[in-house]
Amino acid sequence: MVINLKKYTAIVIASAAGLSASSALAADAANGANVFKTSICSACHAVTKSGTNPVGPNLFGVVGRKAGTLAGYAYSPAMKASGITWDEGSIAKYAMSPATLIPNNKMVFAGIKKQSDADDVAAYLATLK
Ligand code: HEC
Repeated sequence: MVINLKKYTAIVIASAAGLSASSALAADAANGANVFKTSICSACHAVTKSGTNPVGPNLFGVVGRKAGTLAGYAYSPAMKASGITWDEGSIAKYAMSPATLIPNNKMVFAGIKKQSDADDVAAYLATLK
């Protein structure tokens, strides 16, 4: 078989361009801080070190924490049994649709609409440590 070099070159260039486009879209923690407020996460969650648990658990240091384990907060059985250790990916998924990631958890929130906003809010939470 004769390889069509022109076509092959075009594919290589296109995938290289795809890679740089996705790194240009890397999560933006500054926008995430804004999303945290405008998507009303802040209405239920405090984010200060040793802060309170207003409606939901305090999210300072949540990245790397096992779900449902902040001392002094009354989690749902579903959250405690989820087996998740929070990282940016799982937080973004949870923010997009809490009930899909953890059925029967008690966070009453429909979900962020835009994937990039969910990624950004997770990147923001990762800075709180
Ligand atoms: C209406 C109040 C409310 C809003 C709004 C809300 N949360 Fe929550 N959140 C909760 C509650 C309640 C829980 C505990 C859920 C459980 O135990 O099942 C929780 C749990 C969490 C957890 C798990 C923490 C842990 O210690 O395991 C994360 C992460 C989280 N929320 C992130 C967010 C983000 C990000 C947003 C905004 C996109 C948000 N929440 C919006 C109430 C809220």
